[in-house]
Amino acid sequence: MRVTVDRTRCQGHALCVMNAPDLFDLDDEGRAGVLADPVPRDLGTAAREATGGCPEQAIAIEPR
Ligand code: F3S
Repeated sequence: MRVTVDRTRCQGHALCVMNAPDLFDLDDEGRAGVLADPVPRDLGTAAREATGGCPEQAIAIEPR
């Protein structure tokens, strides 16, 4: 699976970083970036939690 962040939607709430710190980080502009592509198998649950937890619906999952 892959995760992507729509930077035009991201408002820097950082819930993704709390839910999946191995997958997301905030850049200098306070917007989320993806650290692992593709998502390692053992981080799939965290990726889904981060996606569902983003209040701006800025994260998308692409199955692969
Ligand atoms: Fe941005 Fe959503 Fe994370 S707004 S910082 S992608 S929780």
